[in-house]
Amino acid sequence: MQTGRNIVLIGFMGTGKSRVARLLADELRLQLLDMDAEIERRAAKPISRIFADEGEPHFRTLERALATELSARSGLVISTGGGVVLNPANVSDFNRTGLVVCLQASPETILARVGHETHRPLLASGDKLTKIRDLLARRQALYDAIPHQVDTNALKPEQVAHRIIALYERPVA
Ligand code: S3P
Repeated sequence: MQTGRNIVLIGFMGTGKSRVARLLADELRLQLLDMDAEIERRAAKPISRIFADEGEPHFRTLERALATELSARSGLVISTGGGVVLNPANVSDFNRTGLVVCLQASPETILARVGHETHRPLLASGDKLTKIRDLLARRQALYDAIPHQVDTNALKPEQVAHRIIALYERPVA
């Protein structure tokens, strides 16, 4: 194992990144860094307000800057926002200093996990399942391009975390 390597969780909304990241940080005694929470903390407002006040492009600029910053650090479990894959530079930066793992789930599973929530601006209006299907279809190739994948549909967060720990602790050739 390379000591200090970050673990970076990528995946669509509702694939379990935040829950699994917390479990990983506790189990491996690494520092948890949730990108959305950190962006909200620095901007002193929720993501939905950033989208409403400054627009999605501004949010993506903040996300890009934070990805650059975090990929220069070590010993972190980083839970990314679902759109981090939209900028390939984010993924290549994270790959340089971390084990990058993509969590996947079907649109139906995602709906079951996030359908009752109201804080995600991209799912705020219209039929949620249609929104999830459309957005996911547009991004699927970007998620699929990440070498390490975990299908979370039938797994509990603890099981997902254990698969990632096995990957993390596997000796690097
Ligand atoms: C987004 C996902 C959200 C958040 C923002 C945009 C996306 O993060 O970054 O609302 O583009 O998929 P979660 O994946 O944590 O919900």
